[in-house]
Amino acid sequence: MTATKPTNAAGALVALRFDRDVLWALDQTALPWHERELPLRSAAEVADAIKRLAIRGAPLIGVAAACGVALEVAADPTAATLARATDLLKAARPTAVNLAWALERVRAAAAPAPEGAALAAAARAEAEAIHADQLAASDGMAAHGADLLGSDAAPAQLRLLTHCNTGALAAPGRGTALAVVAELARRGRLERVLATESRPLLQGARLTVYELGRLGIAHELIVDAAAAGLIAAGAVDAVIVGCDRVAANGDVANKVGTYGLALAAHANGIPFVVAGPTSTIDPACPSGAAIAIEERAAGEVRSAATETGPQALAAAQTSCRNPAFDVTPAALVTALVTERGVAREPSPESIAKLLA
Ligand code: MRU
Repeated sequence: MTATKPTNAAGALVALRFDRDVLWALDQTALPWHERELPLRSAAEVADAIKRLAIRGAPLIGVAAACGVALEVAADPTAATLARATDLLKAARPTAVNLAWALERVRAAAAPAPEGAALAAAARAEAEAIHADQLAASDGMAAHGADLLGSDAAPAQLRLLTHCNTGALAAPGRGTALAVVAELARRGRLERVLATESRPLLQGARLTVYELGRLGIAHELIVDAAAAGLIAAGAVDAVIVGCDRVAANGDVANKVGTYGLALAAHANGIPFVVAGPTSTIDPACPSGAAIAIEERAAGEVRSAATETGPQALAAAQTSCRNPAFDVTPAALVTALVTERGVAREPSPESIAKLLA
């Protein structure tokens, strides 16, 4: 581990850095209390970091997995190792399609190359290209999303509510939904953000608040259960969230709790906006019903992360359910913001158009 400041020359947060033979990952399990980077040297180490959510967020796990394959084939540049590393990383988490998408890109780029230095170079080049693409996608989403939410018809100073963490920790660049938030702030169109805690792993309380603080964006942290009441009370102009997989019909899988926010937004007549790169759209998945929802360990529900480690919240033997994601039907989504443009009221047609 290292205490190196995880920022680039411009002071922006850097969640992943790919050195010559090490992938440095800002350890998201330790934030906001400790800023430390993990040195990852193999596909197995990257897969473990993804499973533990030391690396998390749909686009970021795709980039990390691509780098994991590149690390592994750099050490053993064979077709067998390419296949083994790809399979290992693909199994790390099931819901975010960016993982399988990025791995398929690396496999397709490297497989035709002759075994040896050429195969290793092809995998590395593709991993770096994926990182660059997702970085550019963040800027595209920021611009399209800020144009949409900051339209002339919108309040001059927006009060937004967001869920989970969708910033620089979740995707290269400024992130997905949080990139839109940051762009609105840059344009002088943001009053403040309500950030949900996002139990059980507290991505909102630990990570989004950390990022908003660094960005100097006014915000308040709320418990997840406060969101619907605050929306009903008129405290929110729009909800904006990220996504882990968008089905061909526009259904959206995202952090558990997203569906409830969409219902509350719909019932109270405010926009529910989803931001994600086109790498999060899965054209092979017909609807949300076909999306695998990750079930995580019960211990995550029975405890909460604190500065000194996990603290028990319930008796040790308490039975728990811990779905990490839920599915919001397309009918509740006002707009899907991607780097290629916006699908308003997402439908099979508008989603296909984004991918054309
Ligand atoms: O379990 P996580 O923390 O990886 O879940 C992340 C989310 O649900 C984000 O909202 C999603 O990846 C989109 S933002 C990049």
